[in-house]
Amino acid sequence: MGKKIAVIGTGYVGLVTGVGLADFGNKVICVDIDRAKINMLNHGQIPIYEPGLKEIMDKNVREGRLSFSTDIANAIQRSEVIFIGVGTPPKENGEADLSYVESAVESIAENLNDYKVIVTKSTVPIGTNRWIKEKIIEKSGKTNFNVISNPEFLREGKAVHDFFHPDRVVIGYESEKAKEIMKDVYRSLYLIETPFVFCNLETAELIKYASNAFLATKITFINQIANLCEAVGADVHVVAKAMGMDGRISPKFLHPGPGYGGSCFPKDTKALVQIGKRYGVEMSLVNEVIRANEEQKKRMVIKLERMLGNLKGKTIGILGLAFKAGTDDMRESPAIVIINELLKKGAKIKVHDPQAEENARKIFGDLIEHHDNEYKAMKDADALVILTEWNQYRSLDLEIASKLMKGNIILDTRNIFDPLKTRELGFVYEGVGRK
Ligand code: UDX
Repeated sequence: MGKKIAVIGTGYVGLVTGVGLADFGNKVICVDIDRAKINMLNHGQIPIYEPGLKEIMDKNVREGRLSFSTDIANAIQRSEVIFIGVGTPPKENGEADLSYVESAVESIAENLNDYKVIVTKSTVPIGTNRWIKEKIIEKSGKTNFNVISNPEFLREGKAVHDFFHPDRVVIGYESEKAKEIMKDVYRSLYLIETPFVFCNLETAELIKYASNAFLATKITFINQIANLCEAVGADVHVVAKAMGMDGRISPKFLHPGPGYGGSCFPKDTKALVQIGKRYGVEMSLVNEVIRANEEQKKRMVIKLERMLGNLKGKTIGILGLAFKAGTDDMRESPAIVIINELLKKGAKIKVHDPQAEENARKIFGDLIEHHDNEYKAMKDADALVILTEWNQYRSLDLEIASKLMKGNIILDTRNIFDPLKTRELGFVYEGVGRK
């Protein structure tokens, strides 16, 4: 028998979680204070771009296991398990802003009519689940609930796949009763022998930060090796491949680029440094990763400037704005820093992205020229810069590109083109970490 579940927050994490849990056979109500979002969802529209999500959402709505509402009080009262999936954006100082979590916790405390399991999916600093527990006791005067820390490891663009095929499910718990309920919630995964890690609350909270900081470190490491490859004439792809053949290293997340971005790595690395500070434990390695990643973005601009001689008055065609392919998300995208630097140096910018145009308009407005087609974005450009590895750019017709462009310079920050073939067509080509 499925559980009655409320999911608070219908952003990337909340929505994918709600839809996925409904598909496991639970009865899920997703709630949000944003009326416009709930309205959209009730009309079968999805406020984010996440491949495969709509089909599963429609199916579960049709079959009566999934609904959307702004009535948080009712959703909490009728549910046994409450997932908190609200945003925890970074504050100025890098700490996570917990105000959305706090307001979710208040709603839960006000509506604690029966025993409930309160599950934190949002990424929260170490100690937050214990704080949530105390806060609810203090507000409601009741103790008929348990808290669970159940961090998410969803990649944007692959979130649906990741939800149904996780490498592991982490459950931080304090009570056996709540642990058993969580096994029920994730019964479908339990049955297909997905590894479950049961641990205390603090361990679960730290697993999330440690995992993301490690991946960000891995990317930054290969980025610096790529920079060294350029200097010594080595090929970073071969270096990464051979490194990855060592089972202890693994080949994943060794792809060099313009620096990592997104809603998780930048925020979680900064938060981890802050957590370390609070407890007097230096996170010097992670601190350096954050700094080196900023350098990597700026390095792309310096490279282009060197290739062009001067950026002032030059027209740059940019393909890709999202922080990676497969998403419309521009949060902390390297494109933001790179484009701002180019504008500062007096370049004219023409851009294309198959999904992120709307988000880009919010950031840059009319400071840059937006195009609905990659070839229009490169017309009369002195240089072409690839910032996101969208598949459609991989199959770009470079002969057409060379006719449309004014100049012949390509900076490929994602290494999607073959350097030799591109040069054979008459381009001055540079990628990252290879000749
Ligand atoms: C990440 C984590 O993978 C996920 O587990 C976590 O819970 C949320 O954050 P996401 O931000 O969606 O997911 O994207 P991911 O695919 O991990 O990429 C993050 C950034 O690193 C992107 O900017 C990407 O381009 C970059 N990256 C990734 C590299 O530059 N090189 C790589 O080898 C891998």
